[in-house]
Amino acid sequence: MATAKDIAKAAKLLKEGGVVAFPTETVYGLGADAFNEAAIARVFEIKNRPRFDPLIVHIADMKQLKTLARDIPAVARKLARKFWPGPLTLILPKTRAVPDIVTAGGETVGVRMPDHPIALRLIAACGQPVAAPSANPFGATSPTTAAHVREQLGKRVDMILDGGPCRVGLESTVVEFPARGKPRVLRPGGLAVEDIEAVVGPVAISAHSSSKPKSPGMLERHYAPRTRLVIGGKPGGKRVGLLKIFGLVPKGTFAAVEVLSAKGDLREAAAHLFAAMRRLDALKLDVIMAELAPEEGLGRAINDRLRRAAM
Ligand code: TXA
Ligand code: MG
Repeated sequence: MATAKDIAKAAKLLKEGGVVAFPTETVYGLGADAFNEAAIARVFEIKNRPRFDPLIVHIADMKQLKTLARDIPAVARKLARKFWPGPLTLILPKTRAVPDIVTAGGETVGVRMPDHPIALRLIAACGQPVAAPSANPFGATSPTTAAHVREQLGKRVDMILDGGPCRVGLESTVVEFPARGKPRVLRPGGLAVEDIEAVVGPVAISAHSSSKPKSPGMLERHYAPRTRLVIGGKPGGKRVGLLKIFGLVPKGTFAAVEVLSAKGDLREAAAHLFAAMRRLDALKLDVIMAELAPEEGLGRAINDRLRRAAM
């Protein structure tokens, strides 16, 4: 676990233009000073991420929001008050201070206040907002432990802060605010759509589109293991792994089984999803067969990730 000394060292690295992986409640992030273009460029290189895919900027307090966003819609403020710190990213009109490389040249910036003591202390000690995508190579499964980051990015980052396993385990829910009409969910995530609607009323949800992604994270194939993953169906191939959402381990046929929540809890299932996908991926199976979750609460985000992994 990261100590106060580790956090101070990481903050110093960020101030000097370094790149630091850090825990949040959703997944681990790969952070750089949001106002340091050279440092951000390194984040894109390390991830092998296309420059058209904008980054989320992480803040530790509402003062930092002012340096990033302007003309914040009332509904967005309401959501921030209710759910920050938490797994919610708001797409807002950006100030001129935000470098183009962060927003991929766009006029909006994604902002979120993570609900994790190490992340909040790191950002506060850095003194600047921290731009951070998930700490995985582009298209791969997001890391929910420091060991996942080490396996995937290892020596390419200046430092990895260990905060243990992520509590939520799925990336944040991304919401934009069109000038006309309802708020729109661009990526289902760790905050359930139902919870958002309870505060601001009905929202729109973006349909998948690979040809014209609204949010580049909406690219269809994403979050993917190397092993072929299929949704449902009959087990084909010699060594089949089963990714089950709820219930008991079935007898026979499968070379390996992962059950995300034996007791049927969607939050627990979400928290275990990515680590379970990685464990199955490490077994060199012919195929991973996945079940879908009920399409409600965090089940939507679980199913979104499974469907993209299956593309
Ligand atoms: O939970 C999370 O959101 C994690 C942790 C580290 O905070 N971060 C994360 O970042 O998942 P990333 O880069 O893997 O995903 C960010 C998503 C992408 O789908 C990106 O396209 C979208 O947010 N995004 C960022 N800025 C945007 C903007 N200005 N407009 C539309 N979409 C944006
Ligand atoms: Mg990502």
